[in-house]
Amino acid sequence: MSYDLIIQNGTIATASDTYRADIGVKGGKIIAIAEHLEGAEEVIDASGKFVLPGGVEAHCHINEPPIGKVESADTFETGSRSAACGGNTTFIPFANQARGQSLLEAIEDYRKLAEGNSYIDYGFHLIVSDATPDVISRELPQAIQDGFTSFKVFMCYSDVMIDDRQILDVLGTARQEGALVMIHAENDHCISWLGSKLEELGQTEPKYYAKAHGHVVEREATHRAISLSEIVDTPILIVHVSSAEAMEQVRWAQSKGLNIHAETCPQYLYLKEEDFDRPGWEGSKFICSPPPREESNQGKLWQAIKNGVFDVVHSDHCPYSYEGDAGKQYHAHEGGHPHFKCIAPGVPGIEVRLPLMFNEMVSNGRLDINRFVALTSTNAAKLYGIYPQKGTIAIGSDADFALWDAEREVEIKHANLHDGCDYSPYEGTVVKGWPVRTILRGRTIWNDGEITGAPGEGGFLKRKLHMDPAWNAPSELVHRYV
Ligand code: URP
Ligand code: ZN
Ligand code: ZN
Repeated sequence: MSYDLIIQNGTIATASDTYRADIGVKGGKIIAIAEHLEGAEEVIDASGKFVLPGGVEAHCHINEPPIGKVESADTFETGSRSAACGGNTTFIPFANQARGQSLLEAIEDYRKLAEGNSYIDYGFHLIVSDATPDVISRELPQAIQDGFTSFKVFMCYSDVMIDDRQILDVLGTARQEGALVMIHAENDHCISWLGSKLEELGQTEPKYYAKAHGHVVEREATHRAISLSEIVDTPILIVHVSSAEAMEQVRWAQSKGLNIHAETCPQYLYLKEEDFDRPGWEGSKFICSPPPREESNQGKLWQAIKNGVFDVVHSDHCPYSYEGDAGKQYHAHEGGHPHFKCIAPGVPGIEVRLPLMFNEMVSNGRLDINRFVALTSTNAAKLYGIYPQKGTIAIGSDADFALWDAEREVEIKHANLHDGCDYSPYEGTVVKGWPVRTILRGRTIWNDGEITGAPGEGGFLKRKLHMDPAWNAPSELVHRYV
């Protein structure tokens, strides 16, 4: 037999092309793409389906430490299982450094949590919360060498945020080593000041969370993050852009020639500020940071996706259950009322990211299928150093596929999803287009309702650099400060 697997009669769609061809796989790699192939141990008939590169989910929180009493609802097993059922073959969660902890030790902790437990291939971004001189000059360069070539810094949340000077230090190391820094851009002082004022006024229901995290809070920090990146002359990626005002800062920076990448998420394209008004604790299901905005904001984000302001759309899957004394409502069990300060921010969504985006982008005609693939798989693979192993269908790439039924209509019900959480903020949303089969390195791990993969089949990805530091000549477009 020439091949381990042939996928026949499907329509391949990559970030650049759509065409009818068969795909031959051997040893987990794509070794042939041709009009017609024969001679395999296994043949999958993909008639009537799109054959897409497996989704690359590059923003998700798995097994991170509790926020107060509220615990992550996903382990690597449940989180990766859910991702696989949603058409993803790679995910990149975070290894979260606690204050006072060595970064390399944090990586080891997360490696142990993931090893033997993931259904899909994985890498880690690092969360740098303690930017000591040793972390900046020794641990970060070492981690980058070891394949952890991107890291996130927070401009808010007192237990993880670092200040602007420390962000400059992190950016300096990223520039020197060729890594990519992701920035959570919200102004911490403004959030806490606004939060206190709202509390004094007795305005504590979930909807006031969005007031404490208003557009200006995100816009100011986004502009500041861009300025820090300009000073060091190194690229950044602004994660989870929710506000059109923040997006306009990104667009402005890009038009100036700065190397600013941006991500948005399904929650900012589907959920609305009014969702917080649902009765009782229900509003807490939609609290995430930054929050979903008013409906008119969505159209502006869509326009920016069309215009190329955003490189990637990821779920920011951050699974906190709704019920129970380790869930979003833990406070209710202590006799409390819904209070935005006591509700852990984060929404689950790893399994429905691709269907939600396919529905709006392709089924509803906003973008073509190639842009869908770029925004949900290829661009992330390029940004985070795993292309062309991941994120495309090409000779030599890993045989990672999502077989897609573009006609299937599905009503999202959490009862049918596979994460460890107990709700979906998208409950009842009807989407057209669904991943019916997920294939990881030539092995089917999800087949139309049946999980056929196993924990441990996913392996660690040592990622390449975001950019070769040798190319990192000072940009002619920006004023160099150092
Ligand atoms: O609310 C959110 N987004 N929680 C996850 C942590 C983060 O900031 O990405
Ligand atoms: Zn964040
Ligand atoms: Zn996040």
